[in-house]
Amino acid sequence: MIEVKNLLCRYGDITAIRDINFVLQKGETMALVGPNGAGKTTLLMALAGHVRCHSGQIDFNGANITGAEAVDRCLNGIGLVPEGRRIFPDLTVLENLEVGGYSRPKTEQPENLQNVFNIFPRLHDRQKQLAGSLSGGEQQMLAFGRAMMSRPRLMLVDELSLGLMPSVVDECYDALKKLQSEGIAIILVDQNSDASMAFCSSTLIMESGHQIWSGASHQAPESSIY
Ligand SMILES: Nc1ncnc2c1ncn2[C@@H]1O[C@H](COP(=O)(O)OP(=O)(O)OP(=O)(O)O)[C@@H](O)[C@H]1O
Ligand SMILES: [Mg+2]
Repeated sequence: MIEVKNLLCRYGDITAIRDINFVLQKGETMALVGPNGAGKTTLLMALAGHVRCHSGQIDFNGANITGAEAVDRCLNGIGLVPEGRRIFPDLTVLENLEVGGYSRPKTEQPENLQNVFNIFPRLHDRQKQLAGSLSGGEQQMLAFGRAMMSRPRLMLVDELSLGLMPSVVDECYDALKKLQSEGIAIILVDQNSDASMAFCSSTLIMESGHQIWSGASHQAPESSIY
């Protein structure tokens, strides 16, 4: 599904991530953990096409997408739930979801919307509400729903539980479970690394921009850094 080889990304002269290598297959889940500034967001942004790769390679479903634009990666099935949600506050819930589904044929939209509403019934009840007036938890659900509208085969989730009540965090993990059961691969960053490692079968640990360990989550070394 996705294979990352010797990935290196820079911001100007500063190398933010380097020597990143991993493979993730259909329906597999990987927790990305590491201290602040380790490069977790940068790696997710590089996979989504929002940060340029300086060297190395990203293959997605057998195609080299290293230089592909973010919009094309979305079309190819890479969905992103970014840190801070980044929903459109002045659009309604429904309009936000429609934006998320713009890459798909219009005829698919009712089914895709239904799929989102099945997982997050609260979004169904608030379709006409301006997204900016949603609670933090509802905004996270909307960010999830918007990413789901493009029918991703790989979902990238940054800071899942940031600022959310435990009950909403549980709802988001339930949503992830459903996505995984549909064969969607997931790369997850959560400040609660215990939660993300409990959910994901594999873990990649980063520190200062490079990968210090990767493998099965239950074999991850005890560490005070994440
Ligand atoms: N737009 C940018 N321009 C320059 N440097 C950046 C930019 N974004 C991130 N960095 C730097 O890249 C490094 C990795 O940052 P990144 O945000 O990827 O880390 P992170 O692991 O997501 O951290 P956190 O846990 O705080 O979210 C940091 O040193 C950061 O200062
Ligand atoms: Mg981050």
